[in-house]
Amino acid sequence: MKPKLVIVGAAGRMGQRILSLCKESADFDIIAAVETKGHPDSGKDAGINGVKIGPEFPQTADAVIEFALPEASEQTLRFCIEKKAALVMGTTGLSTEQKKKVEAAAKDIPIIYGTNMSVGMNVLFSLAGKTAAMLGDEYDIEIIEQHHKFKKDAPSGSALTLAENICKATGRDLQNCVVFGRSGERKKGTIGIHSVRAGDITGVHSVIFGTQGETVTLSHTAHSRDCFAKGALCAAKWLVGKKPGFYTMADVLKLK
Ligand SMILES: NC(=O)c1ccc[n+]([C@@H]2O[C@H](COP(=O)([O-])OP(=O)(O)OC[C@H]3O[C@@H](n4cnc5c(N)ncnc54)[C@H](O)[C@@H]3O)[C@@H](O)[C@H]2O)c1
Repeated sequence: MKPKLVIVGAAGRMGQRILSLCKESADFDIIAAVETKGHPDSGKDAGINGVKIGPEFPQTADAVIEFALPEASEQTLRFCIEKKAALVMGTTGLSTEQKKKVEAAAKDIPIIYGTNMSVGMNVLFSLAGKTAAMLGDEYDIEIIEQHHKFKKDAPSGSALTLAENICKATGRDLQNCVVFGRSGERKKGTIGIHSVRAGDITGVHSVIFGTQGETVTLSHTAHSRDCFAKGALCAAKWLVGKKPGFYTMADVLKLK
């Protein structure tokens, strides 16, 4: 039997891509396409298994994938804990409080919270930390992220994950070294994060390591949302049947 999968944020850009990819694969049985109450697409066909888009969660599920807004997370967590469903949480911009709730839920369910589900970007997360440690503190580090003009949060969750990985690998304190959209002089040891919002850019992340005489740049470009959607489906497939715990895409992709 195929695992029963629920999509939260089903009418959104990511939700739509995940539903579309599920139609082409035989990995999951889509049983619900959850959206906010009163959403204009409520009642419309989700395009798979005769499921309708709407606010109701089903009676049971094996896995849930959420790409929605931070305020959706509590209801999604409650449902997953009650039904013992595995959760892939892709929503970014969660508050510290909301992140703590996600972490706490890992006592009861297997969960992956990933600010970026693409394979390439997860390799970049790993490379950014390793590169920073190899180059040492004479190299200034700046992160530039670019997204479409509709993105609600800034900086991107992925830019923050890049900074976190660099801090872990170099012994920096994230709170004290990150500078958002610097104005004025650069201070040694800081990590600048700069957010560009324009048109329909799917997602570009660059990490610049600069010193006197040379620059090293690591960069990832998402050409479409399919890289995130495929990664989320791959994560859900891996997660179903795992023990409760807080897992990452690095576990799924064996990057540790
Ligand atoms: N982790 C990743 O790899 C990754 C990749 C792309 C986007 N994202 C994040 O995923 C989220 C969604 O992105 P998007 O581009 O699809 O946004 P979107 O605005 O197109 O879609 C979000 C959808 O969630 C719905 N929603 C809001 N509150 C809800 C609730 N309480 N219950 C159910 N549905 C609700 C909205 O109505 C909307 O249809 C954002 O936080 C974005 O930053 C993460």
